[in-house]
Amino acid sequence: MFKRTLITSALPYANGPVHIGHLAGVYVPADIYARYLRLKGEEVMFVGGSDEHGVPITIKAREEGVSPQDIVDRYHKIIKESFEELGISFDVYGRTTSKTHHKTASDFFRKLYDKGEFIEKVSEQLYDEEAGEFLADRYVVGTCPHCGKDGAYGDQCEACGSSLSPSELINPKSRLSGSTPVLKETSHWYLPLDKWEPKLREWILENHKEWRPNVYGQCKSWLDMGLLPRAVSRDLKWGIPVPVEGAEGKVLYVWFDAPIGYISNTIDATPDWEKWWKDPESRMIHFIGKDNIVFHCIVFPSMLMAHGEYNLPDNVPANEFLNLEDDKISTSRNWAVWLHEYLRELPGKQDVLRYVLTANAPETKDNNFTWKDFQARSNNELVAILGNFINRATVLIHKYYGGMVPAAGEILDSDKAMMEETRRNIESLSENLDNFKFREGLKDAMNVARIGNKYLADNEPWKLIKTDPVRTATILNLAVQLCANLAVIFEPFTPFTAAKLAEQLKIKELKWDMTGKFDLIPDGIEIGKPELLFEKIEDDVVEFQIKKLEDAKKQNILNSWKPASVKETVEFPQFEKMDIRVGKVLECEKVPKADKLLKFKIDDGMGGRTIVSGIAKFYNPEDLVGKEVCFIANFAPRKLKGVESQGMILSAEDADGRLVVISPSGPVRPGSSVG
Ligand code: 2FM
Ligand code: ZN
Repeated sequence: MFKRTLITSALPYANGPVHIGHLAGVYVPADIYARYLRLKGEEVMFVGGSDEHGVPITIKAREEGVSPQDIVDRYHKIIKESFEELGISFDVYGRTTSKTHHKTASDFFRKLYDKGEFIEKVSEQLYDEEAGEFLADRYVVGTCPHCGKDGAYGDQCEACGSSLSPSELINPKSRLSGSTPVLKETSHWYLPLDKWEPKLREWILENHKEWRPNVYGQCKSWLDMGLLPRAVSRDLKWGIPVPVEGAEGKVLYVWFDAPIGYISNTIDATPDWEKWWKDPESRMIHFIGKDNIVFHCIVFPSMLMAHGEYNLPDNVPANEFLNLEDDKISTSRNWAVWLHEYLRELPGKQDVLRYVLTANAPETKDNNFTWKDFQARSNNELVAILGNFINRATVLIHKYYGGMVPAAGEILDSDKAMMEETRRNIESLSENLDNFKFREGLKDAMNVARIGNKYLADNEPWKLIKTDPVRTATILNLAVQLCANLAVIFEPFTPFTAAKLAEQLKIKELKWDMTGKFDLIPDGIEIGKPELLFEKIEDDVVEFQIKKLEDAKKQNILNSWKPASVKETVEFPQFEKMDIRVGKVLECEKVPKADKLLKFKIDDGMGGRTIVSGIAKFYNPEDLVGKEVCFIANFAPRKLKGVESQGMILSAEDADGRLVVISPSGPVRPGSSVG
């Protein structure tokens, strides 16, 4: 049995705000777990913080013409404040540019260095001769050697997910100057992961078979592939200087310093930090996304073993990814729901987001967030089940007893059955939370609210009050006890609602050992006025959000548009074969039963002709009448929807697929040649 639990949540990079993918993957489940353990009276330390080093931060700073410190100051503030507003109950939220962290990470490196745990190796790495800098990680882009897609980064291909090293890229280009880098020798420190492989095998593959299959499986495949020494330093200007003489211009690799941030932040939280990290009776749980598994299960544990004084994690409940409206969440494509924007645009709806992200948590496979599902879960579950039960119970107590909780009379078998079923669901809830199955746990909690609704529907106290006031009092007493149970069990999931409910029911402190009990609210206590715990999310709210995403998609298409490459060369005689003319539109109308086609009557200076063109989506036919257009006069006639088209009207295709008709820039006689 462990005495206390240290919960860590991946430190988000402070190069942008956090989005719902981060929340569903890491912070909401970590917070549920922390709150649950606290309710059980366990000793908990929940550590978070910003990851403020690494190449993406320096690239962003360069793009904006500001310093990396400016970037991390800006995003650390946004991230920290939005987490607070969402109720993520960190005991400490630090940052890796802090003094404490610089010292802790330097000391950690130095300890391993002094123990001879590193290998120092000279290797050839990509170097930008124009910029005079080595190109670490994301400073290089090129073609992925695995999937062949362009735009792969020096540390990872986002198209196929492969981890890469810069020198593996095909046709590499520097992001500093755009030049082709050369290879140049440089010396770095490596942590020999292979040395720790036997211990890692035993620790994970033998002793932690209970880990989630996705985590266990990924570790097994890394271990089965064989581990290699991994560089823990970089040639960069931004980071923690390597604390060794002669290491000027070198900093700790961000993935070496970031997990040490968990230690530094614990140090900032309490002078008694060592007990959390070193006492064998403390356990550590890392909440992360699946892209971080190797660092938390292989690399950081090897660092901890090399150091020798620290505990290894007891579990690493990594989540898969959350998609948004069936598409991968992407910061660069702005395909995301950003937390700070959500909080601004849907004020007071923190619990709805927490609820929906848990109900859809990507625990065993990638999952999807849609605004329609958000609305449905809010209105059909939070409002119609949980909110409805609590509202009915408390409204009736106010109506019949002036808000004073009535005393229960004789308890019938049907009451006992309701209590038993409640207890069974809460037991299942506890078991699910103990095993990091938050999604299943939330279903158990919602079932308790369903039990309440059924209890009221079966007993109909609103009818019974006229014939059997004693029985009515019993029913409403038990209903309000059920509300108290709901306040406790929903606290980890929807803490703002739980706090409101506890206040309404005059419960001073919510505790897990209150659950399953039906004597929590004493008779005669006056409960607060009923207030709606959840309001419906209206259509216009989700429509606004969907429109925002559609706009982002359009913008993204425009941003990534490039002119098509030029076709093969043609000589003048070939060009001359094309008889392009100017014509004037005399008539224009839609072709029946063809939503794309417009039929034109054109004055071509030669007696007129009919042309059918696929531009109906982009024009009102009447707006084109009188316009001069260019058309191919010797285009072979063809029938379109029964109409013979005698030519082709020329138009340009814009980045968003819109077709724009080509017109001469001044008046020209119909039939004039274009060339
Ligand atoms: O993947 C990421 O966003 C990293 N910043 C996570 C770091 S977790 C820990 F090691 F600090
Ligand atoms: Zn790839």
